[in-house]
Amino acid sequence: MIQYPSRLSLANLPTPITRLERFVVPGVDARIWVKRDELTGTEVCGNKIRKLEFCFAEAREQGCNVVITCGGIQSNHCRATAILGARLGYKVHLILRGEKPQHPDGNLLLDYLSGATIDYIPQAEWKTHIQFAHDLVQRYAGEGAKALFIPTGASDEVGLWGYVAASEELKRDFRNLDMSPDYIVTATGSGGTQAGLVVGNQLFDLQTRIRAFNVCDDAAWFENKIREDVTLWKQRYEIDFDDSALEIETVEGYVGPGYGVAEQPVFELIRDLATAEGLFLDPVYTGKAFYGMVQELKKGDHGSLPGARDVLFIHTGGLFGVFPQQDNFRF
Ligand SMILES: Cc1ncc(COP(=O)(O)O)c(C=O)c1O
Repeated sequence: MIQYPSRLSLANLPTPITRLERFVVPGVDARIWVKRDELTGTEVCGNKIRKLEFCFAEAREQGCNVVITCGGIQSNHCRATAILGARLGYKVHLILRGEKPQHPDGNLLLDYLSGATIDYIPQAEWKTHIQFAHDLVQRYAGEGAKALFIPTGASDEVGLWGYVAASEELKRDFRNLDMSPDYIVTATGSGGTQAGLVVGNQLFDLQTRIRAFNVCDDAAWFENKIREDVTLWKQRYEIDFDDSALEIETVEGYVGPGYGVAEQPVFELIRDLATAEGLFLDPVYTGKAFYGMVQELKKGDHGSLPGARDVLFIHTGGLFGVFPQQDNFRF
């Protein structure tokens, strides 16, 4: 039995699993199922809330009253942190990458509405953001406050628990639904969701394989990041876990022009899936990963998903990221 650290109950769990009925890709006979983690909440939704249940518990244990975190201008993680901070009575300070837009939209609008303090660091100087965050922690300390810094995407040894716990939930789902997917597919951006699933798959013997589609960086980056986080997780929580055979499989080839920038077929897929199933993806994370999954399934031998009959896609949320990119949809 695994001993979890303290955790707040913030997400609507368990999330349902649904099977796609009307979304048909010619030549693809695998059944596609979706773990509806976009339904973990309304405004605090998606994968981040699972991680933040552990991060905010950590903030509470450390006696913090400020939470500092960072990410892109349209970061879902920053939005979730800002709103949870408002809900739980923490001051939230965000460090965002880029220039302040004239009109806040999507996630950024919600950051402002929930009262977060926001600093912007230009892309070219982004490598200074960790130092900036540490300086902020000191500044708050000087003012008599106590701040916790949560790194990008809450992808560290604390946030890793989010998808370890989700894997335990999946174990129950598979039993209840009498299903046994050959693959679990997710988008990967800062690595924490993938890390939790890879560890959880082994811990709870889910008997499936995790395939993560990267939306930035490359497979080598995720391999390193996940190994580092798993090592820290084992050390910090004194967990006896054999990570020598961890299967970290990142499927490359679907980043497109760059992080946050998608090509037309991704926008078309988002529209097609919404029309066929009433299921909404986003162009930054889930749209690219789902698009990649479909392309792989179309390949003769199923590409990086060989032998796939049942595939479970983790819908990690991201809906608010659709609105700032609405001009890319063609009707
Ligand atoms: C909607 C959405 N899906 C997937 C991801 C990727 O998750 P992770 O950062 O844990 O790799 C993120 C965040 O980066 C996200 O906001």
